Amino acid sequence: MTVPDFRAAKQAGRKLTVLTAYDHLWASILDESGVDALLVGDTLGMVVQGRESTLPVTLRDMLYHGEMVARAARRSLVIVDLPFMTYQLSPLQARRNAGRIIKETGAAAVKLESGATQAATIAALADIDIQVMAHIGMRPQSIRKYGRMSAIQRDREQLMADALAAEAAGAFSIVLELIPRSIAREITEALSIPTIGIGAGPDCDGQVLVTPDMLGMTAGFNPKYLKRYADIRAQTIAAAQAYITDVQSGEFPDAAHSHE
Ligand code: KIV
Repeated sequence: MTVPDFRAAKQAGRKLTVLTAYDHLWASILDESGVDALLVGDTLGMVVQGRESTLPVTLRDMLYHGEMVARAARRSLVIVDLPFMTYQLSPLQARRNAGRIIKETGAAAVKLESGATQAATIAALADIDIQVMAHIGMRPQSIRKYGRMSAIQRDREQLMADALAAEAAGAFSIVLELIPRSIAREITEALSIPTIGIGAGPDCDGQVLVTPDMLGMTAGFNPKYLKRYADIRAQTIAAAQAYITDVQSGEFPDAAHSHE
């Protein structure tokens, strides 16, 4: 999967699938599933590092996790998030840090939380052929402004202006997070680049979910948009408890698992 393939999917009317990945093991499993893109999201701050927001995530974290994921990906497009304060200072800062991500991880593209206000930054990256996925709607790096992660964004005119600005600046795709489905549909129809929704309804060109959420690994996170496709947390706890019982009772290791 390349960036041109990703763009072409919209023209072909084929829905795009994106899942987050943070390490080599999970990236290799998800790559094998046939998912179109692996997003090394700064959600790793919460789901991997156990923090309350994405704000503390560093460029070094993204380089570390991004490299592992890109090395595992045989087929999926790998996109790495630029974390908070690694691109907001200036287009030059964005070039320097996005350039490091592309050079040092092997990823195909970067994602940045961006609308009209970051259009110059998107253009600065696109001008040197760094592929940019934009991200509008609820932007987790602005959590202090919203006060909560579940703040649905409903300003139709602002959202449309953000989306058009990101496309005009050269983004190859755009994430629409937590916006009403009617606005997501209008944006999807207005843009020629693929829209990837999360909490944005069924009319986007594709969908992204946070993998530990959709696999049922994270506890206590139940937004309306989330569909769980497995219950890995409960299965892992049950497997670990069976192991504990076996070891404590002497059931394991048995003869079949021992060397003579
Ligand atoms: O960081 C992330 O994983 C994301 C997705 C939720 C779109 O931005």
